[in-house]
Amino acid sequence: MVFDSQVVIVTGGGSGIGRACCRLFAERGAQVAVVDLNQKRATKTADEITRQGGKARSFPADVTSAQDAEKVVRDVVAAFGGLHALVNNAGILRYGTVVTTSEETWDEVLRVNLTGAFLMSKYALPELVRQGGGAIVNVGSVQSCAAVANSVAYVASKHGMLGLTRSLAVDHGDENIRANCVCPGAIDTPMFRWGVSQSARPEETLATDRQMHALNRLGKPEEVAQVVVFLASEEASFVSGAAYYVEGGLMSAVGGMAAQRPGPSEPENF
Ligand code: NAI
Repeated sequence: MVFDSQVVIVTGGGSGIGRACCRLFAERGAQVAVVDLNQKRATKTADEITRQGGKARSFPADVTSAQDAEKVVRDVVAAFGGLHALVNNAGILRYGTVVTTSEETWDEVLRVNLTGAFLMSKYALPELVRQGGGAIVNVGSVQSCAAVANSVAYVASKHGMLGLTRSLAVDHGDENIRANCVCPGAIDTPMFRWGVSQSARPEETLATDRQMHALNRLGKPEEVAQVVVFLASEEASFVSGAAYYVEGGLMSAVGGMAAQRPGPSEPENF
């Protein structure tokens, strides 16, 4: 997977999965635009890459603002001379049911996780088409396909991300635009650790989170980045509209029971 100075925007590139994507794209020869609301983190990622001989620049922006999204695409094209791929990765996590989630929280989560990807895609698409086509990789979640309890706004936003992906693939395939959605399980990032810290018994939650995966561990941001970079690359030239699980077997276990392995003499539970 060689990107040969192709230009890639990664939103939320200042932390976790986004940061790992920026680093891997740069290792593979891309020019990386690190977009993040947090200017310090975006600069840190870009500086790390530059120090290691890669090409990157930080572009502080809020993906929920149409003005920011339009400007950032314009600035990236001016700085690097084009745009070949967009990774919509910026996201936030909030907990609550329909009853306990405020309208403000619902709007906040939907705006960052879904509207942000819509806005960035809206302004990036004409530039991708101008280059003869390109790739959009949306970072969804296993929660694009199933619900975790007490997470209604997040679950709805991530299901929406898969719908957005499929619409992008269907509407713009004839312009040589590929759109795909990566659906990670629990990945050890600051967002994941924050989520665990909200639980009444963080240590137990962490252990359960590990055990829910058939591989009996959390994923690493770099393991998600490998799939994101593949989907953005020419190697994935006939992959579009797909939901790609990167979840260590989490979704293969009935009822999240990957940790329960009955021996041959033990009865099945059902
Ligand atoms: P993180 O919290 O480590 O990084 C997210 C980054 O997005 C931060 O640098 C933050 O400043 C940035 N961001 C937040 N709001 C923004 C905005 N309005 N505009 C621009 N940037 C903004 O999170 P992590 O874990 O790396 O998550 C990245 C993506 O992966 C998210 O979409 C998340 O929902 C998804 N994901 C994460 C999983 C996990 O277990 N960590 C599992 C499945 C999906």
